Amino acid sequence: MISKKEQLDELNKYWEVNCKCELRKTATQAVFGNGNAESDIVFIGEAPGKNEDLKGVPFVGAAGKFLEEMLQGIGKKREEIYITNIVKYRPPNNRDPEPKEKESCNEWLINELKIISPKLIVFLGRHSMTRFFPTEMISDLHGKLLIKTTPELGRQAFLPLYHPAAALYNGGMRETLIKDFKKIPKALEKIAEK
Ligand code: URA
Repeated sequence: MISKKEQLDELNKYWEVNCKCELRKTATQAVFGNGNAESDIVFIGEAPGKNEDLKGVPFVGAAGKFLEEMLQGIGKKREEIYITNIVKYRPPNNRDPEPKEKESCNEWLINELKIISPKLIVFLGRHSMTRFFPTEMISDLHGKLLIKTTPELGRQAFLPLYHPAAALYNGGMRETLIKDFKKIPKALEKIAEK
C-alpha cells in the first residue's frame, strides 16, 4: 500500500509539470501543501506570498507565525497538521487570485484533499471558503462548523476562519480569529460523535 505522503509526492510531481495556471510565468516556483499527510485537519489558505514563493513552503511569513501561535494555543504543532493553498503559485504583488487561476489549480487541490481525507477542513479566509460555499460571506460563517456533501469529497466537515494575514493588524478581527480557532478541538470531537 502506498502511503499518503508518497501519493502526495506523486501528485505534486504530476501537477508541477502539468498545471496550466498562468501564475507559473511570474512565480519563482510552485508551493506545495506541507505538513503531516496523516493529519485529521487540513488548513486551506489563499495563495503563496513573497516568502512562500521564495522558500517553496506555505505560510512561512508573518501570517504563518501567527498561525503557529494559534496552533500552539490548542496544543498542536505545525508538523502535526497539513497546510495548503487554493492557488499554488504567488500572484504578482500579492493581489487576489483570479477565478481562472483558482480553476487551474482546482484539480490539484481536490486530489490533495482526497488523498489526505481529513476529518476537518479549516478555511483560512474567504478565497478557500468560497470554493466550497460560493454564495456565502466569511463574516457570516466564521467560527461555525459546517457539514456539506460535495460531489468531490462526499460528506465533509468544514470550519471557516478569518485569514491570519487579514486579522494580524486588525484588533477586532484578530480577537475573533483567536476565539474561533479555539473551537477546532471541540469541532473535531463533534465530528467523531457523528
Ligand atoms: N497567505 C496564504 O494564504 N497562503 C500562504 O501560503 C501564505 C500567506
